[in-house]
Amino acid sequence: MRRALFPGSFDPLTNGHLDIIRRSAPLFDEIVIAVLNNPEKQPMFSVEERCGMIEEILGSVDTKGCRLTVDSFSGLTADFAREKGAAAIVRGIRAIGDYEYELRMSLMNRRLQPEIETVFLTAAEDYSFVSSTLMKQVFELGGRVDGLVPEQIILKMQAKLDGNKGE
Ligand code: PNS
Repeated sequence: MRRALFPGSFDPLTNGHLDIIRRSAPLFDEIVIAVLNNPEKQPMFSVEERCGMIEEILGSVDTKGCRLTVDSFSGLTADFAREKGAAAIVRGIRAIGDYEYELRMSLMNRRLQPEIETVFLTAAEDYSFVSSTLMKQVFELGGRVDGLVPEQIILKMQAKLDGNKGE
């Protein structure tokens, strides 16, 4: 049983994340999409909302026989990966700019849990500029993010914006 952890903030999930999930599915029997609960950040969506949206969207992903599960965690990714019995941590690399940060994280995670490998997958070119932060920024300023963020999530982003306007 090869289990991997795909950790992240997922605030919100983008098509770039989905691309990494699709690419890593054939490599593992199970991927746990692990949503970080970071009390230091002011997210657009609560952890519960993020997990719910991801679960909804994963229902329509071709998993190539790989089981996809969603969970949230606090604290260290390496510890959560171990708790989950994951052999690997999956991370996507979009461009060279991601590499230094991802390398440092993978080396630290290896130091913390030497038996867990980090597996880097390169993102599809179409999503190489897509990040949750950029998507939120563009959307909040009235720009279109369709094709880059799943439709269901765009609707939820719109509902958040409409709700905030009423405050
Ligand atoms: O989607 P993100 O924000 O790029 O994900 C970053 C994440 C959640 C993988 C990283 O911040 C993380 O692992 N945070 C948990 C705390 C931790 O383990 N820090 C040390 C990493 S070496």
